[in-house]
Amino acid sequence: MNDFPLHDFYGDIYTSYDRVNRIFTFGKDRAWRRKAAAELLANEPDRVLDLCTGTGDFILELAGQSAESGRNIELGGYDFSREMLQEAERKKGELQKRKSLPDISFKEGDAGAMPYEDGHFDALGITFGLRNLVYENSNAKQHLSEIYRVLRPGGQFVVLESSKPASPLWTVFNSIYLRFFLPYLGGLISGNLKAYKYLANSSKNYYSIREMEMILESAGFHALRSRALFLGSVMLLVLEKK
Ligand SMILES: C[S@@+](CC[C@H](N)C(=O)[O-])C[C@H]1O[C@@H](n2cnc3c(N)ncnc32)[C@H](O)[C@@H]1O
Repeated sequence: MNDFPLHDFYGDIYTSYDRVNRIFTFGKDRAWRRKAAAELLANEPDRVLDLCTGTGDFILELAGQSAESGRNIELGGYDFSREMLQEAERKKGELQKRKSLPDISFKEGDAGAMPYEDGHFDALGITFGLRNLVYENSNAKQHLSEIYRVLRPGGQFVVLESSKPASPLWTVFNSIYLRFFLPYLGGLISGNLKAYKYLANSSKNYYSIREMEMILESAGFHALRSRALFLGSVMLLVLEKK
């Protein structure tokens, strides 16, 4: 289990999670997930895992894009928070009333011990979840080796995550925003100040693109390309399993 009680935290905030996301990213998070999904589907994978799927925004975007391209792929969503997954199931049901989607199967469990066979997935994506798995987490190595294990050789690994901005001016603004704004507004909306303090602190002290790539390269991945979004506060990385 993690050093910080992340599991309970997500069980507490799942009802407000999507709303808080929209507010904090000024509504940009949807566009970032669209870009990340396009990267993940670029090589036409047949089996895709959305790790730390949460309330399902990313997997539903993947499902929508696959349906539009006429491809029927296997989509797995994995997360250790039952409450977040229930919300994802609910949203999937709502969307399925409006359009036909590929098969999506959600599973509950810890990223450190996934119930999938070696090399099962052609592509694996993680949006705003990698920070939870590696930042100040004593299981970081195990999480990364599980990601490596379930991905097939040559398979793509796409990461969308907070990042340390490159510009000094934006760094100052970003730090003020994360220190004085995000925890209190998030705490107010969700009723869990402690959770949003953790989230803000882990975002503030998180890695630059190159630092993140180096961590992932040392876990066996090869960095293919990266993009800085939102003036460098968000990173989109594309890697592959060597
Ligand atoms: C910030 S949310 C991101 C959710 C979603 N991917 C998105 O883009 O909104 C992080 C998710 O990671 C999950 N999580 C954190 N640590 C985990 C672990 N060790 N194993 C499985 N899921 C984990 C949490 O339950 C939460 O749903």
